[in-house]
Amino acid sequence: MLGSRRDFPALTAEPDLVYLDAASGTPCPEAVIAQLTAELRGPAANPGRGGHPWARDALRRLEEARAAVAAFLGATFPDEVAFSRGATGAMAFLADRWGPTALADGGDILYCPGDHLSTVRPWLRLAERMKNHGVRAVPYRRDRLGRIDPDDFARAASDRTAVVVATDVHNLHGTRTDLDALAIPPGATVCLDCSQTAGRLPLRLAESRAELAVVSGHKMFGPPGTGTVYVRRGQHRRIAVDRAAARSGPARHVSPLTDAAEEGSLDGAGAAALASATAFLDGIGIDRVGGHLAGLAARFANGASRIGGVTLLGPPVEAGGPHSGIAAFALDGQAGDDVAFALERRRIYVRAGDHCLDGPREDAVRVSFHLYNDENDVDRLLQGLAAAAERD
Ligand SMILES: Cc1ncc(COP(=O)(O)O)c(C=O)c1O
Repeated sequence: MLGSRRDFPALTAEPDLVYLDAASGTPCPEAVIAQLTAELRGPAANPGRGGHPWARDALRRLEEARAAVAAFLGATFPDEVAFSRGATGAMAFLADRWGPTALADGGDILYCPGDHLSTVRPWLRLAERMKNHGVRAVPYRRDRLGRIDPDDFARAASDRTAVVVATDVHNLHGTRTDLDALAIPPGATVCLDCSQTAGRLPLRLAESRAELAVVSGHKMFGPPGTGTVYVRRGQHRRIAVDRAAARSGPARHVSPLTDAAEEGSLDGAGAAALASATAFLDGIGIDRVGGHLAGLAARFANGASRIGGVTLLGPPVEAGGPHSGIAAFALDGQAGDDVAFALERRRIYVRAGDHCLDGPREDAVRVSFHLYNDENDVDRLLQGLAAAAERD
């Protein structure tokens, strides 16, 4: 137990609340709120717009934030990371500004129709726009527990595969993808959605098979509407830079990635606060977070499997390893929204509905733990679930 609920003002303000929707958005810890407040109270200059000391200082702080976030994500160089409004904007950027050059001579985009709409839609739009160039979107399957089917992946992959779009940790099932277990053709570029990994499990992007990645800041204790896009240096030449538009950004060339992704005014305060979220997580230790989440996920899975009518929608939690802390389940004969409402009445907040997926099962309910949750939270959830199951 990391015992840090007290670090989160939103949670200390509501001591009886069990918040289990971190995968949608995490509350901000005091350190991030303090950083954001300090940024807003300080010099108001736009990073790099103008040569006066305020503008120069804002630019310096922006680059410090970039270096901190890049180190947290395990990037080799800070210029491989640009700030975005979140993972959705970051993924759309990659499809719009990296995709057209990479696919100019045609090729297949492999994607999973069971992944988050923010992951999939930009690439489907690109395939549609570029079909006359010989670009195709080719689907691969996940099984009902959210594991990518390696045989189906191998069937979809070929020497035509140009891009593999994959999700590292699935937003409903909580399953982590092992890219090394997939038959990814050597010439293909992998684009990885790490929205549900960052802040939960270690990320070492420099060592990953993925050369492109997106991260959501507000799921890792950063302020709402923050995130990052990662492009390894070897892929920078494929980014379409609009030189004139780049001048509307921080007015300093960092890399083709930042030139293209950071057009216009930046949320410098958000970037600094996101960097402070990485310091907060580093202070705890990301390995400890993953271990803590594994303990909660295992306790939940054990307890839930003893409640009649509960079906778990994720693979078993492996002993000894870290876990995303995201778990999904269905309750026999009950709509997900009804189960969520029954839990809400007990002050337990979970996620039901469409889960931002294309046609998920209607009875799917997601719980997502984080470092402020403890075993009592899991037990309250299990009690609530048992009561909901009995009603049927
Ligand atoms: C896997 C995945 N990708 C993308 C997103 C969208 O992230 P953002 O809210 O940062 O746009 C989410 C958010 O739920 C997600 O879970």
